Amino acid sequence: MRLIFLGPPGAGKGTQAKLLTERYGIPQLSTGDMLRTAVAQATEVGKRAKAVMDAGQLVSDEIVNEIVSDRIDAPDCAKGFILDGYPRTVPQAVALDRMLEEKGLKLDAVIELKVDETALVRRMENRVTETVAAGGTVRSDDNPEAFRRRLQEYREKTAPLSEHYARTGRLKTVDGMADVHTVTAEIEKILA
Ligand code: AP5
Repeated sequence: MRLIFLGPPGAGKGTQAKLLTERYGIPQLSTGDMLRTAVAQATEVGKRAKAVMDAGQLVSDEIVNEIVSDRIDAPDCAKGFILDGYPRTVPQAVALDRMLEEKGLKLDAVIELKVDETALVRRMENRVTETVAAGGTVRSDDNPEAFRRRLQEYREKTAPLSEHYARTGRLKTVDGMADVHTVTAEIEKILA
């Protein structure tokens, strides 16, 4: 099973990807997590990505395409994977199509979580509160200014992907405003 989750920041892509990972026994490939790890480890990629991520902007297509292409080759992806946060631009989607073709792989579904933008800021604030309460480190881009920029980047660069996948009949949409388990159940119906 090879899936893509589309949706704005806070739509629930990561939450749903984690739940499906357990259900289907395939890994969640979150480019956001991979980049945050690179930043924490101060690798060359991390050094280049840090300021861009902190500002809520997108990291270059070249960097993320390479990270994903390498990650897909890992043995744990042999049965499939869930892409969470990639692709995020039309050039990334075109690169992914080419990459999968070269590797002889096919996508099973592209699932878009439809959400009301006004709820997203509240979700980000909740995440900050929960992270602090659990003694964790708040994401450096979970603040009002960076979040506004993340939404703007989504509208300008990622929203056009829905059309890219709809054109080839691969796009399925799910109401991301429902509670977490209802959203999971809707996704599972699509995948059944
Ligand atoms: P990334 O880490 O991908 O962040 P994001 O897309 O902004 O998404 P989030 O993680 O904020 O939201 P989510 O949709 O996963 O929601 P979640 O499940 O966490 O990217 C971060 C940065 O990395 C980017 O800004 C960019 O700089 C860079 N980057 C990453 N990929 C890139 C790429 N391909 N190209 C270029 N740059 C890239 O849920 C959010 C909150 O809501 C949680 O608290 C959760 O508990 C809650 N929640 C979830 N579902 C529900 C629900 N149904 N009801 C109520 N609450 C819910």
